[in-house]
Amino acid sequence: MPSETLTDRISRTLFTEEEIRRRTDEIAAAIVEDYTHGDVAKDPKGRPLLLVCILRGALIFAADLARRMSIPLQYDLISVSSYGNGTAPGAVRLVKDLEMPIEGRDILIVEDIIDTGYTIDYLRRSLEARRPASLRVCTLIDKVARREVQSDIDYAGFALQEDAFIVGYGMDYAELYRNLPFIGVLKPEYIH
Ligand code: PRP
Repeated sequence: MPSETLTDRISRTLFTEEEIRRRTDEIAAAIVEDYTHGDVAKDPKGRPLLLVCILRGALIFAADLARRMSIPLQYDLISVSSYGNGTAPGAVRLVKDLEMPIEGRDILIVEDIIDTGYTIDYLRRSLEARRPASLRVCTLIDKVARREVQSDIDYAGFALQEDAFIVGYGMDYAELYRNLPFIGVLKPEYIH
């Protein structure tokens, strides 16, 4: 094992563990309030809120968010991927579908980051086609500077104006750094 730690590869911290924890608490409280006392929940059968975690990046945020929400809820997982072959910019494909039917349910999509907006636009359209009772979107990071496709975001943890290459707390570079407990900027020498 190399003696260098993951943290040594980060040039600066953008959001500390404590900041993420505090913000996640606030978002969880806002969601609980909206779905219990607001008029957001629309399922005529009154079934619990269904969190849809977008693999793989949102795994850690979704797990922490869910544990801070003191209401009955269920979660399911979906995985999508950008084609990234240059032929169709923004094209997204489904890698792993939800296991649960969502028709008539109250759905909250949980993302780690919304960047160009192509992924959330695709997810919104494909899940809305299944006729949920309601569909909302929560993201930890809203990278506003890079948006190419506009899509409604109902809950956002942090707006990021700069176009920095960020990793940690679920976000990766070459599948690494997801397990960093904070979010930071990767040193350029580790980007190949
Ligand atoms: C990231 C992130 C979003 C998407 C946002 O996923 O989790 O799903 O990119 O980018 P966009 O707004 O430009 O479409 P990624 O494709 O890196 O996969 P991962 O979640 O497995 O890391």
